[in-house]
Amino acid sequence: MQNGKKLFVKTYGCQMNVYDTERMTESLQAEGYTSTDSAEEADMILLNTCHIREKAAEKVYSELGRFKHLKSENPNLKIGVVGCVAQAEGEEIIRRQPLVDLVVGPQSYHKLPLLERQINNGQKKVEIDFPTEDKFDFLAKRTDIRRAPAAFLTIQEGCDKFCAFCVVPYTRGAEASRPVEKVVSEVHSLVDRGVKEITLLGQNVNAYHGTYSSNSQFTLAQLIWKLEKISGLERIRYTTSHPNDMTDDLIDAHANCQKLMPYLHLPVQSGSNKILKKMNRSHTAEAYVDLISRVRKARPDILISGDFIVGFPEETDHDFADTMELIRKVKYGQSYSFKYSCRPGTPAAERMQVPEGKKNIRLQELQKLLSEQQKTVQEDMVGRTVSVLFEKTGRQIGQVVGKSDYLHAVHVPGEENKVGLLENVLIIGSNTNSLEGKIV
Ligand code: 5AD
Ligand code: SF4
Repeated sequence: MQNGKKLFVKTYGCQMNVYDTERMTESLQAEGYTSTDSAEEADMILLNTCHIREKAAEKVYSELGRFKHLKSENPNLKIGVVGCVAQAEGEEIIRRQPLVDLVVGPQSYHKLPLLERQINNGQKKVEIDFPTEDKFDFLAKRTDIRRAPAAFLTIQEGCDKFCAFCVVPYTRGAEASRPVEKVVSEVHSLVDRGVKEITLLGQNVNAYHGTYSSNSQFTLAQLIWKLEKISGLERIRYTTSHPNDMTDDLIDAHANCQKLMPYLHLPVQSGSNKILKKMNRSHTAEAYVDLISRVRKARPDILISGDFIVGFPEETDHDFADTMELIRKVKYGQSYSFKYSCRPGTPAAERMQVPEGKKNIRLQELQKLLSEQQKTVQEDMVGRTVSVLFEKTGRQIGQVVGKSDYLHAVHVPGEENKVGLLENVLIIGSNTNSLEGKIV
């Protein structure tokens, strides 16, 4: 084992990449690496990349260019590109930027320790196959170091939905769920390390169908009920979901499962039935609105979050007005919105594009409405007592920051020793993206 080597990882994109970064770091720690926040002092730099929207690859190349001087100062420095851009670009990355030593797709990062040895022997390595083995079986066990009280855990990867705009089915591959027992054992090991909240991750997490006892399968709701029984685990969340996989048992879990948090991220993308059809979303705006009202019947205080795309090919002003109408009906507490971004190789890339100027105007209008809704939902929290899991100290001296049940960031002054604890907090103020509270 080599000692004293330093690893710097820069993570782009979604929470699944955050989880992957953590697992990669742990597997390289087993090889003698320690983490550093500074690329300047690193012996290995990994860029964990995202390919969901345009210019992703260009951003990676420009970031790599910035490491050139580091490599000339430290010829032993190794540089790797991992994640979805690695999957999509493959060998092209080394061809365009020869200072890169390693390219690894999201399904192969369990091979990092082996690859690390090979690149240290002067080889360059590209691993972008979809291997038959399960990478999670080969990853280093999550270590016994105590850690932040909230953790991500990937339980499902890939997607079979093929929305016409999306690269995920190509970069992350077909949908696959991890077996129930493996998820349960990872949760136990996280809880033993001080974790109180787990967010179950998947590109289509509510399509989860993991094997249980080798002959049956669990739905996401069944898995949540199983995790609910783990003592020490206090909160369960999941993301991201597809409306068509929002089954009755999952809606029922929102009504009856104490540890399942009142928050649902359910992307709709558009409120126009014409556009939804062209997007291959296979549900209507009415079905989505009806689904939200069923979820709210089960859990009236649930906070709804969504993803939206404006300027999808052939979107007219009328289609956009339908999206605005859907937003007014649903009333979102949180949201993520994007201009349509052309992804070569996806069906929508070939279609009539909406001019950039129109996309900009629509995005502004949409975000204005969504911010107003977010503000209203946040202001409604003032005067209420919510439970907050404190995750870290804040920027101001003595301040602690945590998340409420509804996933709002909550700042509380003068309670530094609360990190890791769940406390009841009275909300006394609302800022743009956070709430102010005091312990009751
Ligand atoms: N253009 C714009 N937004 C996209 N998303 C996915 N693909 C694209 C694209 N080509 C958005 C969707 C998805 C979120 C993760 O990213 O809203 O839900
Ligand atoms: Fe992409 Fe999500 Fe559609 Fe799958 S369901 S293709 S991940 S947007």
